[in-house]
Amino acid sequence: MTDADKSAFIMPINEKIKKQIVNLLAKQKIKIIAEDLTIPPSPEMGDLALPCFEIAKIQKKNPAELAEELAAQITPSGLIINLKNIGPYLNFFLDYTRVAEQLFKEIQKKAEKYGQNKQVKGQKVMIEYSQPNTHKEFHVGHLRNVCIGNALVNVYKNCGCKVVAANYIGDSGAHIAKTLWYLQNFVNQTDIAKADNQGEFLGRAYTQAVAAIGDNQDRKYQVAEILQKLENNDPKIIKLWQQTKKWSLDHFQEIYRELKINFDVYYYESEEEKAGKKMLPKLLKYDFIKKSQGAIIADLQKYDLGVLVLIRKDGTALYGIKDIPLAIKKFKKYKLDTSIYVIDNRQAQYLKQIFKILELMGFDKKMIHVTYEFVQLKSGIMSSRTGNVVTYEEVKQAALNKVIKETKQRHPAWPAEKISLASQAIVMAALKFGMLKSNNNKVITFDIEEALDVNGFTGPYLQYSYARLNSIFVKSRKTCAGIDVKLDYKNLAATIEKELVKNLLKYPQIILETKQTNDPSILVHYIYKLAQDFNAFYHELPVIQAEPAVMAVRFELLKSIKQVLTNGMNILGIPILKEM
Ligand code: ARG
Repeated sequence: MTDADKSAFIMPINEKIKKQIVNLLAKQKIKIIAEDLTIPPSPEMGDLALPCFEIAKIQKKNPAELAEELAAQITPSGLIINLKNIGPYLNFFLDYTRVAEQLFKEIQKKAEKYGQNKQVKGQKVMIEYSQPNTHKEFHVGHLRNVCIGNALVNVYKNCGCKVVAANYIGDSGAHIAKTLWYLQNFVNQTDIAKADNQGEFLGRAYTQAVAAIGDNQDRKYQVAEILQKLENNDPKIIKLWQQTKKWSLDHFQEIYRELKINFDVYYYESEEEKAGKKMLPKLLKYDFIKKSQGAIIADLQKYDLGVLVLIRKDGTALYGIKDIPLAIKKFKKYKLDTSIYVIDNRQAQYLKQIFKILELMGFDKKMIHVTYEFVQLKSGIMSSRTGNVVTYEEVKQAALNKVIKETKQRHPAWPAEKISLASQAIVMAALKFGMLKSNNNKVITFDIEEALDVNGFTGPYLQYSYARLNSIFVKSRKTCAGIDVKLDYKNLAATIEKELVKNLLKYPQIILETKQTNDPSILVHYIYKLAQDFNAFYHELPVIQAEPAVMAVRFELLKSIKQVLTNGMNILGIPILKEM
């Protein structure tokens, strides 16, 4: 066993505390489990509480009386310093001096592993996210998906899962035909050659195509013809499709590189379309899948899920026919326990239909749709169909220009390379935090100025807090070298210090909650509060200027804060800067 492995086996202090409470009650012949304990609504009421209703019922007593009795009988010990009855609850107070000592040890030993759990150890989970469409723009709304998906990949890994990160590229369907139609009819080769980012060029072409097609029946017919040709492997159109598809894919890779995310596997709609069509004879054997006016549909009305058209009258494939073979393929290849789809909530009904179809086919597996709301800018909803869009590239570039200018002003002596790297990291933090700070089911109204505000509820605020924390360590290396005192955790007595210890203690629970809800905003709020409390501490209390015994324990606290900030920011994908 390596040291790192061993460290994973220290009993987490959180568990230890609960176990001690369970034991205190066992001495009174009362059997409870750790999960019975709740967190009181306010800190003055204690750190943990036991609701006495159930036990009182068994003992045929009044819960408030029982709580009072227990409070009088139990002598606090170990990590529990005090207990008090409040109504029908028995509340426990922690001895923060001793908790801090053990907690800091645990955090420093486990380091990047602090917060990890084995709740679902060994389980295999696929998380499909991003799924951009080629021949279309990559707008800010797509970024929300990427940020949620990537954070969930990290959260699930922290819970012991083996995670397969999957992407599913939308390289077939009506949108492709529209863009290709536009390229063929309105764009000359030199324009394409002149474009410096052909992926973006293609995205704009799509928007222009939609506008040009409008309600024009003739043009719609021409687009339908291209779609037919694509599905029938017409060599000329296939060549154009392949050439242009590569432009989009290269552009997406560039974006993923900037965001520092990776996928383990890529699926393509064009391939699943073929697989889906091949499955048709098999599908038609189920009586809920049938021909209707020349089309092929899945009739789910019995289940209140309406009808999903799989194949159009003209024989061309629709979206749904592809998801059926894909779902099966994922489980088969990776022996998954769970398959997660991160897709915006406009497809919630659709996903229910797909899951139902699979269930009716006897494919009874755990599939979860993680939904999220859309992103709007102050000017209104973004849609790549209307052209009222701001692409990822546009927002990023505008932010980058601003941040580079500011960073140069702050650090005139920094070399260009350093300025550029720091600015890029700040912009990424602003974008990612901006996409993760809201509950999945809340619409985001994104404002880049707001997202960059170093004093706001933002990614740069986290980076700034981290850099400030780091600077204390840098300074201390110069001023405090050689000071050696015995650590006495009684010196950690201020309210803000206790608050910080409490927060650090909560981190593993936050990781679990984030996983259970599939909502990274829970972790975002937690990390933000930790940074805020650290800043409050920084303004209130001296560290390097404090007397040596106090300074020493404060450094232990700071080390632990630094570790947890690091762990949390890493999960969220927010780059850390040592200096800002
Ligand atoms: N590319 C699709 C779109 O933009 C999303 C794909 C979602 N994934 C899936 N398995 N259907 O609408």
